[in-house]
Amino acid sequence: MLDGCGRTIDYLRLSVTDLCNYRCRYCMPEEGICKRSHSEILSVEELAEIAEAAVRCGVKKIRLTGGEPLVRRGILDICRRLRAIPGLEELCLTTNGSLLPKLASPLREAGVDRLNISLDTLRPDRFAAMTRLGRLSDVLDGIRAAEDAGFRNIKLDTVLIGGFNDDETGDFVALTREHPWEVRFIELMPMGPCASWDKSCFLPVDFILERNPTLQEIPASGVARRYRLPGAPGAVGLISPLSHDFCGGCRRVRVTADGKLKGCLHSREESSLRGLHGEALEEAIRQGILHKPRRHHLTERPSDTPRNMHQIGG
Ligand code: 5AD
Ligand code: SF4
Repeated sequence: MLDGCGRTIDYLRLSVTDLCNYRCRYCMPEEGICKRSHSEILSVEELAEIAEAAVRCGVKKIRLTGGEPLVRRGILDICRRLRAIPGLEELCLTTNGSLLPKLASPLREAGVDRLNISLDTLRPDRFAAMTRLGRLSDVLDGIRAAEDAGFRNIKLDTVLIGGFNDDETGDFVALTREHPWEVRFIELMPMGPCASWDKSCFLPVDFILERNPTLQEIPASGVARRYRLPGAPGAVGLISPLSHDFCGGCRRVRVTADGKLKGCLHSREESSLRGLHGEALEEAIRQGILHKPRRHHLTERPSDTPRNMHQIGG
């Protein structure tokens, strides 16, 4: 359906947990988060009900997010339930990749169509320092497991952080020469722990084009401008929430793991879908879409949302 600004909304990002097995410095406080009681998080039944209502409202693509969606108990059940919804064209999942060695095949069998895997650095020491709990080799094994399980069009999501990985852009771009992956650079957004970081951490992704001048533009996809090295099987995507105003092309709404509908990642506004069923649930989703904010204000001030990224789902 169309939102209040005439944008087509057909993409739901559904968070299945706010927990994560990593503690990335820009996303999570070091001490982690208080584990919510079971009852605060949407049940498999509730997730399926919300997804079905959203599809009736015109959603064609659902992405499961977290936290880390693969730490959620019953994730395969959730995938199977959603995949069976008539009218849903694509079921995707965004993961940090660490559990894919075990879960890639079962996810494929449960009907997941595509994976985005977050990977901010190719250096083991940096990876451990940024994620506080992670090991690079797990993620690299995870990517391989995803390919072996039959996943195609894998996207790697790399948050560009000045002073951390800005010297690795060539290495990431070089991956697209060897692999049919889309490496997507995302501008770091000032929210949660990184909202107070130094300005120098926040680089415009056009930096990638300066550093890699042989990239050639190819047609855009969603909010990503896209490029390719001549003859390369993979592609490079640039996602610039800060330096380019992409809100006009936004097609998404979000539901948090505790059942709040959010029209915009950066807005304070949310409405609870909990306890709603059938017509009432559909109406609440329609209202949320109609009132989706026109744009964010990240260029003027940090994100308005009091939530951290792991509580919204990237
Ligand atoms: N800015 C940009 N991307 C972020 N992510 C988490 N926090 C931020 C932020 N402040 C990304 C993760 C992952 C996805 C879930 O969201 O790195 O790719
Ligand atoms: Fe976990 Fe992703 Fe946040 Fe890192 S960025 S702590 S992997 S949710």
